[in-house]
Amino acid sequence: MTTLGTPLSPHATKVMLLGSGELGKEVLIALQRLGVETIAVDRYDNAPGQQVAHHARTITMSDPAQLKALIEAERPHLVVPEIEAIATPMLEELEAAGTVRVIPTARAARLTMDREGIRVLAAETLGLPTSPYKFCNSLEELQAAIDAGIGYPCIVKPVMSSSGKGQSKIDGPADVKKAWDYAMAGGRVSRGRVIVEGFIDFDYEITQLTVRSVGADGQIATSFCDPIGHVQISGDYVESWQPHPMHPAALEKSRQIAKAVTDNLGQGFDGKPSGLGLFGVELFVKGQDVWFSEVSPRPHDTGLVTLCTQHQSEFELHARAILGLPVDTRLRNPGASAVIYGGVDAVGIVFDGVEEALRVPDTDLRLFGKPESFTKRRMGVALARAADVETARGNAKLAACKVKPRKV
Ligand SMILES: Nc1ncnc2c1ncn2[C@@H]1O[C@H](COP(=O)(O)OP(=O)(O)O)[C@@H](O)[C@H]1O
Ligand SMILES: [Mg+2]
Repeated sequence: MTTLGTPLSPHATKVMLLGSGELGKEVLIALQRLGVETIAVDRYDNAPGQQVAHHARTITMSDPAQLKALIEAERPHLVVPEIEAIATPMLEELEAAGTVRVIPTARAARLTMDREGIRVLAAETLGLPTSPYKFCNSLEELQAAIDAGIGYPCIVKPVMSSSGKGQSKIDGPADVKKAWDYAMAGGRVSRGRVIVEGFIDFDYEITQLTVRSVGADGQIATSFCDPIGHVQISGDYVESWQPHPMHPAALEKSRQIAKAVTDNLGQGFDGKPSGLGLFGVELFVKGQDVWFSEVSPRPHDTGLVTLCTQHQSEFELHARAILGLPVDTRLRNPGASAVIYGGVDAVGIVFDGVEEALRVPDTDLRLFGKPESFTKRRMGVALARAADVETARGNAKLAACKVKPRKV
């Protein structure tokens, strides 16, 4: 049974978000609506989620000592990682000591913090279909892996990176050194390790949002949202829509894969299936074949579209699931999202054209409130709902391009 408290009182239900970007901000808003006391943590001040939480804290989350000190000082009931770059072994220690509960589990946060833990789990432990891959520590090892079977084309990614940073495609021998150097410059920490993956020539890729929540019988149940289609440019999401039409066999396989991965990540350090929350399972589909790509044990950026398509957005689903509350994953109407990039490098930018954007029928906007803009930083998103996905995609893109970020 879940009992919720009153925020800022001795019986408050306290939740700490580790990472408070645009996805965390929406989770925080969903928690605020349920009267949860929220603590938004980020590496810089005035992060989007910090602007809507009861408390804002700025620390280096990859530093175990800082992370431990903050959790012990704040004593939240739940710690909810929103990003990957966190000192996850410390979270495991605190969880094992009974200091805090980590969402979905500290183990899942550790396994998904780099590409290696999750790929080895999916491909080797669970035997799920993935692209052929190899981990390499040097340019020589990379070349050898390609020659020994990965072949061309292939994709190189730093093991510690996200949003396409340091990621590039290799079409032939001439690209290998360039891809290695690019990966070394773009990884989160320069551990000098990359994954090289055989290129999957998929028809389309989807995000299968998957929720582990407590059912009426008190047991954890798995439920699925409708598949989300998306377009990635240089490894970064630019457009997404829901539902993406799928062959029933491919949908069935996608859900089996999603269930296998989330069942495993839902197991805590003690092996108990205690992990709750929403996951974004990324899959490649060609005909009836499905490959597992990666998974976020938290809301997914392509799932921003659910703000205008589902009865409960992925953020509300996450908030409800982690609190032990029932969820409803049903689609309400088709819709689409289109990313608004900063386009400029500047602090405290302004946005022109917001009214023109919102005059596009059945659209909505989120401007994240990030204090600093970069040319390729995601600063907002346009959302459109419609009777069909094509209309929604057109309107979301139209609304997004009417918003003009500008330096003052
Ligand atoms: N092996 C692959 N074959 C084909 N496309 C790929 C492959 N790996 C990645 N991609 C493309 O690059 C995108 C980003 O890769 P991903 O591994 O999801 O990195 P990130 O963690 O930065 O999201 C994918 O959504 C897909 O479009
Ligand atoms: Mg991805």
